[in-house]
Amino acid sequence: MPEIASRHHVEQITKVIEQALSEAEVSLDEIDAIAVTEGPGLVGALLIGVSAAKTLAFANHKPLIPVHHIAGHIYANRFETEFQFPLLALVVSGGHTELVYMKEHNSFEIIGETRDDAAGEAYDKVARTLGLPYPGGVQIDKLAYEGEDTFHFPRAMMEDNSYDFSFSGLKSAFINQLHNMRQKNLEPSPKDMAASFQASVVDVLTTKTIRAAKEYGVKQLLLAGGVAANRGLRERLIEEAALELPGVELIIPPLSLCGDNAAMIAAAGAVAFEQKHFGNLSLNAEPSLEFDEV
Ligand code: KG4
Ligand code: ZN
Repeated sequence: MPEIASRHHVEQITKVIEQALSEAEVSLDEIDAIAVTEGPGLVGALLIGVSAAKTLAFANHKPLIPVHHIAGHIYANRFETEFQFPLLALVVSGGHTELVYMKEHNSFEIIGETRDDAAGEAYDKVARTLGLPYPGGVQIDKLAYEGEDTFHFPRAMMEDNSYDFSFSGLKSAFINQLHNMRQKNLEPSPKDMAASFQASVVDVLTTKTIRAAKEYGVKQLLLAGGVAANRGLRERLIEEAALELPGVELIIPPLSLCGDNAAMIAAAGAVAFEQKHFGNLSLNAEPSLEFDEV
C-alpha cells in the first residue's frame, strides 16, 4: 500500500531521527554528513527520506550523500569487520537476488542476478498460498525446520555456467503441488512444503555462490539483504564455506542488520564520505535506480 507507506513515513521521520540521535547520544553538530537512500524503492517513501535529508543537510551545513539501497545492504557487513578486496557479496532481499563482485570500495560488478523473481519475493508468494502472513520468509524458515524435503522441487539453473538465478519455476512447482493435492482432497504438510521449498532455494544460492567465490578468488564472502536472516541459508553457507573455501572469510551480518535498516545506509555513506562522493540539493528519489549507475 504505497500511499499508506508514504503517510507513515511522513508521520515517523522526525521522531525517528530525534530518537536515533538521542539513543546514540550525539547531537547534530557531531554528525559529519547526512546519507540517504536515493533508490531503488517506492517513490513516495524515498521522496520523504530524500526531502528530510536535504533539509537536514542544508539547515546544518552538512554534505549530503546519496546511497544505493543494495550498497547499504552490502555495507551492513562493515559493522562486523573491515572489508578486504576482492570480495563477493550474495545479496538476497525482497526485490533483489544478486552476486556482486567488489574489487575496491564503492565498485560493484553484478556477475549474476535473478532472471525473474527475487528470492524474498518467492518466499513471500509461496507463504501467501499457505495462508501465512507477510513477510512470509520468516514463517517459511520456521516451518522448514520442522519439516523435511519430501517434494524435491526443481533446482533451476543450478548446473549451468552462468551465475544467474530463477525462482519463478520453483514458485509454480510449489503452487501446482498444492493445487494438485487439494484437488484430491489431500492437504500437504505445510512443514514439508516449506522444508522442500527452502531446500531448493538454499541449494541453488549456496552452490552458485561457492562456485563464484572460487572462480573469482575472493578474500571475503558476504551475505546481505533480508533473506540473509534465513537460518537454513546461514547454516548451509557456513558449512560449505568451511569445506570448500579455505582461506576465505565468510561474513554474515547479525539479524538486526539483515532486513532494511538505516545503519546500513550510514555504513555505506561513511565510505562515500571518505571518497568525497557527495550529492547536492538537486538530488531526487530514483525508484528504479540501477546498481551499476552508482
Ligand atoms: O532487505 P529487505 O528487508 O527488504 C528489501 O529490500 O526487499 O528484505 C525483505 C525480504 C522479504 O521478502 C522477507 O520475506 C525476507 O526478506 N525475509 C526472509 C527471512 N526474513 C526476511 N526470507 C527468508 N527467511 C527469513 N528468515
Ligand atoms: Zn532491502
